[in-house]
Amino acid sequence: MTSGELYCCNVFSENPNVMRPNSSTLYERAQEGARLIRTRTSADLPVAIVLGSGLGAFAEDLTGAIEIPYDEIPGFARATVEGHAGRLVIGKAGEITIAAMQGRFHFYEGYSLEEVTFPVRVLKLLGVRTLVLTNAAGTLNIEYTPGSLMVISDHLNLLGDHPLRGANDERFGPRFPDLTSVYAQRLQDIVIDEANALGLEVRRGIYAALSGPSYETPAEIHMVRTLGADVVGMSTVPEAIVARHMDMQVAGISCITNLAAGVSDQPIDHSQVMAIGERVRGSFTALLKRVIPRIA
Ligand code: HPA
Repeated sequence: MTSGELYCCNVFSENPNVMRPNSSTLYERAQEGARLIRTRTSADLPVAIVLGSGLGAFAEDLTGAIEIPYDEIPGFARATVEGHAGRLVIGKAGEITIAAMQGRFHFYEGYSLEEVTFPVRVLKLLGVRTLVLTNAAGTLNIEYTPGSLMVISDHLNLLGDHPLRGANDERFGPRFPDLTSVYAQRLQDIVIDEANALGLEVRRGIYAALSGPSYETPAEIHMVRTLGADVVGMSTVPEAIVARHMDMQVAGISCITNLAAGVSDQPIDHSQVMAIGERVRGSFTALLKRVIPRIA
């Protein structure tokens, strides 16, 4: 079957970057995405990980891996950002087979939050119970140094939109989900514990998501600090909310790549964000390898 037969008419989305399957509800579209993945693997997938900017290298260390480009998965958008490869890698981290998203979708790319979080819906239907969300983030807290890690204890959704806005499908979860404990305490403790065991600099703190794509102004950073955030980024929060909607366990790990705007007088650029990702590659991979068996 050609993709033309499967995705003949772009009737569901205005966005030409989103290949729309023919099924109508979000649930059915997610089932269609999961079905495609199940034609490639029958592995039990207790854990999935979303690899943030510059952090995709972890997927290269998975053994016996298969790779599925996002443009082969019905309903998935295309990753348009440098540092986000745009494929799902399924392979073993030690004894455990996991699904790793090498690249994610962002609100600033023009995708709706439903499109941004669609892969999380698909992962749930594949049987994933625990989702590890990673990202690159700028720090507001001058005690956090670039290259160090922050385990997310809570978040601020400052995106100006919500991934659950619109009709609710009870097959996924309730209309009014509780977000008291988005990031499971047990998972936070495991990540801190393993980071300490590796001698990595790690803290616990609050992640604020802003839409981007520009980095923030110093005044915005001042505002976000006043609101109680420790770091800022442009991702993670929509995926965490949707995962909790479906009762998945969530862990969030930020790799601090820069001091946020105005915290230092240095301008911020994406190549610096990527360079720090490259620098922490080894320790980040080592951390995930220790964390995954404990959370699976
Ligand atoms: N702001 C927003 N997102 C980011 C930053 C930042 O300073 N660094 C990495 N992602």
